[in-house]
Amino acid sequence: MRNKTALRVGIIGLGVGEQHIEGYRKAPHCTVEALCDFDPQKLQAVGSRWKIRRLITHAEDILSDPNIDVISIASYDNYHADQIVQALQNNKHVFVEKPLCLFEEEACRIRQQLNAKPHLKLSSNLILRKSPRFIDLKQKIQSGVLGKIFYIEGDYNYGRLHKITEGWRGSLPFYSVVYGGGVHIIDLLLWLVEEDIVEVSAFGNKRSTEGSSFRYHDMVVSIIQFKSGGVGKVTANFGCVYPHFHKLSVYGTAATFENTPKGAWLYQSGKEDPSAIDTPYPGVAKSDLIENFTRSIMEPSFLMDVTAEDVFRAMSVCFAIEKAGSASKKIKVQYI
Ligand SMILES: NC(=O)c1ccc[n+]([C@@H]2O[C@H](COP(=O)([O-])OP(=O)(O)OC[C@H]3O[C@@H](n4cnc5c(N)ncnc54)[C@H](O)[C@@H]3O)[C@@H](O)[C@H]2O)c1
Repeated sequence: MRNKTALRVGIIGLGVGEQHIEGYRKAPHCTVEALCDFDPQKLQAVGSRWKIRRLITHAEDILSDPNIDVISIASYDNYHADQIVQALQNNKHVFVEKPLCLFEEEACRIRQQLNAKPHLKLSSNLILRKSPRFIDLKQKIQSGVLGKIFYIEGDYNYGRLHKITEGWRGSLPFYSVVYGGGVHIIDLLLWLVEEDIVEVSAFGNKRSTEGSSFRYHDMVVSIIQFKSGGVGKVTANFGCVYPHFHKLSVYGTAATFENTPKGAWLYQSGKEDPSAIDTPYPGVAKSDLIENFTRSIMEPSFLMDVTAEDVFRAMSVCFAIEKAGSASKKIKVQYI
């Protein structure tokens, strides 16, 4: 372990970012030194709730502070790229909320910075990997219970339409439901099957937000092809009348797994009734990746739950899906 007693953390954006505080408080060797939000009332309220005294309204002040080692970025999506690049330039490790950024060019810029500073860690809050139900599923896949997987369906059912018609998401110069939500499912699939997605096609519409100020597709469906020939379907369905839910069906030659709001099941060939799967879902808090992230900084050989490579991989697939939808044609995934 590195001879350092503490990682000093600064957090930008105090919506879901407030939950990051809990993650750093639980992690050994960490102190949350400073909080930043450009809403002064929220800043004061969160600061006093957690008894953190250094409260900053301009992100630049926290990003350039030599006394901060780690930056947690939970600002609006359109600020992520510049804040990540600035943090890396100033030798800070970065934990960023999804999505990493909004444009391929931004992801390439982040990649360049990271390549120039390989000692720095970058991770993102792709939290479904920590859900006990999906960990259980991955173990079943790895031990061959499902046989050979030939089809996967994953739906990111948002179920909170007001968040894109009324909140900041609808007022950004650009917003993508694929980057804002679909990325969770894409990362989950890449992690479950441990195989690249090579090609995608996609279609979308905005029937649910018609007449609102939200200008982008609120529903995107993508057909995906895995390297070894398995196929899949991923949706980013922000318009649905449905509980917020990650619906998943994994079809293998020996068994099918299904996660639905009414429960999860495993259908196995030769058995009449499916077995109920009762491992908790989601069973995970938004701060659950943070301890692993900070430990990987303190012990560089420690295995990270979500590496920078994982983040670039998921984003590369997202970029291909957006392109396929706009161009109305199949797109090969270019991994950044
Ligand atoms: N991992 C997840 O499952 C998950 C869940 C929710 C949100 N998110 C992501 O977290 C980010 C924030 O979303 P939210 O739901 O917390 O939004 P929110 O509106 O609840 O909170 C965002 C806060 O950040 C502040 N802020 C935004 N940009 C800022 C900047 N440049 N400088 C200082 N303060 C800034 C705002 O004033 C606001 O208080 C988004 O990127 C979103 O996609 C991830």
